[in-house]
Amino acid sequence: MTNKSVRDYIRTIVDFPHEGILFRDVTTLFADPRGFRIAIDQLLAPYAGMRFDKVAGLEARGFILGGAVAHQLSTGFVPIRKKGKLPGATISQSYKLEYGEAVVEVHDDALQPGEKVLLVDDLLATGGTAEAGIKLIEQLGAEVVGCAFVVDLPDLGGRKRLEGLGMEVHALCA
Ligand code: PRP
Ligand code: ADE
Repeated sequence: MTNKSVRDYIRTIVDFPHEGILFRDVTTLFADPRGFRIAIDQLLAPYAGMRFDKVAGLEARGFILGGAVAHQLSTGFVPIRKKGKLPGATISQSYKLEYGEAVVEVHDDALQPGEKVLLVDDLLATGGTAEAGIKLIEQLGAEVVGCAFVVDLPDLGGRKRLEGLGMEVHALCA
């Protein structure tokens, strides 16, 4: 038996994708059968007994986690993608990253008004990506009931930013 925590399965790559960034690489967590299982179990833990209609995942690593979480919750999965990737009619939201700027989109029929959504991603840094995802979900009339991340980088302010929007934030490690 191992006592390794989720954090122990994640490696840090220095200066990726730019100098000065300490990149938290979750591929090592995803590649480990126990690591991936405990990460999904721990992401789900606070939501026991709650009902969700959909899990929304943020591209790209939020797809891997969100798909597994949706399977466990027996909900559908909604991808929130980088600009230009979704084939149907979309709505868009631009946002600033820790290292750049981007636009995310969702299909305009992916969620119905009143649906309860769990937003999932691997990492919360500035919170710009998650906030853009929340705005898209809310624009479709659905409700974000929880935001779940594997890693929270608290110094970058994402948790405070999302809590300021009235969101419940759940993260497994810093
Ligand atoms: C990373 C991460 C989050 C986002 C967090 O994705 O997976 O989605 O950054 O940063 P923020 O809280 O400052 O917005 P990235 O933009 O690197 O995209 P990728 O997963 O497609 O590589
Ligand atoms: N996204 C934004 N900042 C990041 C970081 N430090 N590591 C991994 N993904 C990120």
